[in-house]
Amino acid sequence: MERLQKMLAHAGVASRRKAEQMILDGKVRVNGKVIKELGTKVSSSDTIEVEGVQLEKEQKVYFLLYKPRGVISAVTDDKNRKVVTDFFEGIDKRIYPVGRLDYDTSGLLIMTNDGEFANILTHPKYEIDKTYVARLKGIPEKDELRKLEKGIKLEDGMTAPAKVKLLSGDSKQGKGIVQITIHEGRNRQVRRMFEAIGYPVQKLSREQFGFLTLHGLNAGESRQLTSHEVKLLRVMAETGKRH
Ligand code: URA
Repeated sequence: MERLQKMLAHAGVASRRKAEQMILDGKVRVNGKVIKELGTKVSSSDTIEVEGVQLEKEQKVYFLLYKPRGVISAVTDDKNRKVVTDFFEGIDKRIYPVGRLDYDTSGLLIMTNDGEFANILTHPKYEIDKTYVARLKGIPEKDELRKLEKGIKLEDGMTAPAKVKLLSGDSKQGKGIVQITIHEGRNRQVRRMFEAIGYPVQKLSREQFGFLTLHGLNAGESRQLTSHEVKLLRVMAETGKRH
C-alpha cells in the first residue's frame, strides 16, 4: 500500500505537494469515489482517476544497479550532480532508488517504479540484511568490533546487533578492511558506527542486499532482477527473513 499523493507523484501526475492539493480539491477518485483525505493508502489494484482521467497502470520494473561513488541516490539534484537515474536513460519508466546510499558510498542499489515494493523493502519492521565492506583508518581490535556486534549507542539510539568480520589489516599503512552486516537503514549508519569506536571510514561499499550480490557487474552497470528474485525479496520482507 502506498499513500495516494505519493502514488500520483510516482505516476508523474504532479509533484507530491501539488498532488496533495488536487486531492484536497476533490479532483481525485479511487475506485469511483472522491477521496479528500491525504493519508489514504492505495495499492496497484485500485483504479485511480484524476480529473476524470484514469491513471495508466505502468508495467513494474526492477533493477539492480552497481552505484559508483560520487552519485546521488535520487532522481534529481538541485546542484546538478550525477544521480542514479542517469544510468537508466533508455528506460521510459519513472524509476527511483529503494532506500539510499551516500554520495560517497558505492555498491548495490535496487531501482524500481513499484512503490509498494520499495515501501516493504525499506520498512523498519521488515528490514533485510545488508552487507558492507569498509576501509577504515586504523585496524580495530576484536573487542572493539565486539561493541558493534552487540549494538552501540549512536545519537539516534542503540543499533541492533551486527555481524562484523575483520577481513584484513595493513599495519604499515594503518588501514583495516572490515565486513559488516546490518539490517537497519539509518542515515549514514555504518559510517557512524565505525566513527563511534574511533575508526573513521575512508571508503564504503554495499556488497550484498539479502541474497543479491554485485556479481558480474562493474560500477555504473545494472541488470534487471528476475521475477523470482523480486518474489523472494517480497517474501523475505513480509516474513521477516533477513537473508
Ligand atoms: N551506511 C552508511 O554509512 N552509508 C551508506 O551509504 C549506507 C549505509
